[in-house]
Amino acid sequence: MRRMGQGILVGIFMVGFIAINGWGLGNALGADTGTEIPATNPFSGNQAAIEEGRSWYRSICSNCHGGRADGAGERGHGADLRVFNKGFRKFVETVKNGRDTGRAMKMPSWGKVLSDDTIYKIGAYLETLAQEGANWKEGVK
Ligand code: HEC
Repeated sequence: MRRMGQGILVGIFMVGFIAINGWGLGNALGADTGTEIPATNPFSGNQAAIEEGRSWYRSICSNCHGGRADGAGERGHGADLRVFNKGFRKFVETVKNGRDTGRAMKMPSWGKVLSDDTIYKIGAYLETLAQEGANWKEGVK
C-alpha cells in the first residue's frame, strides 16, 4: 500500500511538471506553430509504428486512459479512447495542447515532450482499438 502511494505521488508530480512546462510554451508560441498536422495519420496501418505507439501509450497514457484505452486508468478516469470520434487532427491537437477539464484530473499537454511522429504513432496504435462509431480519420469538425 505504502509503496503504491509513493508511486502515485511521483506520477502526479511528473505529470504536473510536464503540464506546467507544456502550458507555458504553448501559450507563448500559439497552438499551431511548427509543421502542419497532416489530414490523415501517416502511420495508419504501419505495423512497426503501431508497436512503437503501443509501448509509448503503455508508459505514458495508460495510467489515466486504461491499459485497454477504455478510460478506466488506475489513476482515475480519462476519456475512453476506443470511441474517440473527432478525427485525426483533433486527436493530435488534444494530445499536444492538453485539455483543462475543470476537474482535478486534466489531460496534460505533450507538445513539448513528444515529437509529432511519436504522437502519430500513438494514434496509429489507438486506431487499432477503435470500436464502432469511432473516427480516427479526418472529416469531423
Ligand atoms: C493525467 C492523466 C492523463 C494522462 C497521463 C493522459 N491523459 Fe488524455 N485525457 C485525460 C483527461 C482527464 C481527459 C479529458 C476527458 C474529458 O474531457 O472529460 C483526456 C482526454 C484525452 C483525449 C480527448 C478525448 C476526447 O474524446 O475528446 C485524447 C485523444 C487523449 N486524452 C489522449 C491521450 C494520450 C494519447 C495520452 C498519452 C500521450 C494521454 N491522453 C495521457 C487524462 C490524461
